Amino acid sequence: MAKLYINENHKKGHINPELYGHFSEHLGRCIYEGLYVGENSVIPNQNGMRTDVVEALKEMKIPVLRWPGGCFADEYHWKDGIGPKEKRKKMINTHWGGVVEDNSFGTHEFFELCEQLGCKTYINGNVGSGTVQEMSEWVEYMTFEGVSPMADLRKANGHEKAWKVDYFGVGNENWGCGGNMTPQFYADNYRRYQTYVRIYDDQKPISKICGGANVADYYWTEEVLKKAFDNVPEQFHGLMDGLSLHYYVHPEGWEIKGSATEFDDAVWYKTLSKALYIEELIEKHGAIMDQYDPEKKIGMIVDEWGGWYTVEPGTNPGFLYQQNTMRDALIAGLSLNIFNQHCDRVKMANIAQMVNVLQSVILTEGEKMVLTPTYHVFHMYRDHQDADLLESYIAGTKEIGKEAEFKVPNLQESVSVSSDGTIHVTLNNLSVSEAEEIELVLTEKSIQKITAGIVTGAINAYNTFEEPNKIQEQTFDQIKITGNKAVFTIPACSVMALHIR
Ligand code: AHR
Repeated sequence: MAKLYINENHKKGHINPELYGHFSEHLGRCIYEGLYVGENSVIPNQNGMRTDVVEALKEMKIPVLRWPGGCFADEYHWKDGIGPKEKRKKMINTHWGGVVEDNSFGTHEFFELCEQLGCKTYINGNVGSGTVQEMSEWVEYMTFEGVSPMADLRKANGHEKAWKVDYFGVGNENWGCGGNMTPQFYADNYRRYQTYVRIYDDQKPISKICGGANVADYYWTEEVLKKAFDNVPEQFHGLMDGLSLHYYVHPEGWEIKGSATEFDDAVWYKTLSKALYIEELIEKHGAIMDQYDPEKKIGMIVDEWGGWYTVEPGTNPGFLYQQNTMRDALIAGLSLNIFNQHCDRVKMANIAQMVNVLQSVILTEGEKMVLTPTYHVFHMYRDHQDADLLESYIAGTKEIGKEAEFKVPNLQESVSVSSDGTIHVTLNNLSVSEAEEIELVLTEKSIQKITAGIVTGAINAYNTFEEPNKIQEQTFDQIKITGNKAVFTIPACSVMALHIR
């Protein structure tokens, strides 16, 4: 039997709700069809946003949404996406499938969507192919209340009041699709571009996100920070609020990737060990950040993460459409637990991408919508948002997956306490076959009641439009409580959430 020790008296940090953030890109059927169907669609919508998707995302408690990319961001010219829709420029989305982008979803539509979702906004600006003026005018257009050319233009386009931009990304993957820059060149550009991301209203601060590294590119992190802080007087250290990190899990590597649904036990363990690697990345990039920012004022922003597989057979390779199995539920469960455990440094994370692309929480087909196993994990984990991380430890974990030459622990957890005193435990069983009995032990609190949910199934089980509820959250009530202890058995291949009163 494994023992899960929880010290309810030791709070280790605060879990920013944005750790549970999402990412929407003009890629495949994410924006068009997935989120936005237009006001005249037969699919039920409010101002063009599909009602079923918006309702599901609200229920999941989406805290923040990043837009418009990704690689698309560094080719996006925001003025193409404002004004009367019939007059908006059409362009080819060269990055993603070579389809026509008609710009019918632009700045106004993004804020409309976020208003409907009730979430914070994260806009990603264009450094790769855009000018400083273009970026500064976009910020002015969105956030300036007074009289100015851009504020006037916004008003002329029907939006009197300025919006709130919570986060602003100064470029995306500028080491690659965002301009193939060296870290030194990008850092100089970052310093310059961010200067003109003006904060017009102190009551509405914009957190500026500097473009960070891909996977284990520690050189990028080191060089960008070195240059960004070189000869900057202390009072200007606020030139950066966040530094991003991107990490995708490709079971077979970048070139081959591997099927989203057809894999064996060995690939399962390989994938999960790759998912767990994000912890090492956070720690090592975090250690470099500590040298420049020992007080951890700059957030690590994992604004692209998740499983990335070979596209579904018969679909446009440029659309990156993939299915989502119990393996994705575990990738989500493990990664979110790791983000919680590192909430002192990780301040936001955005899984890629929200609908119809990589590790999506929702898939759509015409008017049908399906919630993926990843959705159910985000839904189960939502109570961690804005809670305090608690100290926890599992004694008696086993190393599994050895036969596949990939060692992972069989159990992994994170624990938090919300302001009403409820303790939230999220626990993963990574084994393909072995259930595990657990004794949960609180330091001194006597347990009154536990409610719990579970997402479980065969390793490659998934939901389809014909069978949308094969994998879904189920109530779990096989728990025996005695004083400050509880005993239960977590089935193989499952993600669980327990709420302790
Ligand atoms: O998520 C797909 C792409 O992956 C994004 O556009 C880019 O930022 C990353 O390389």
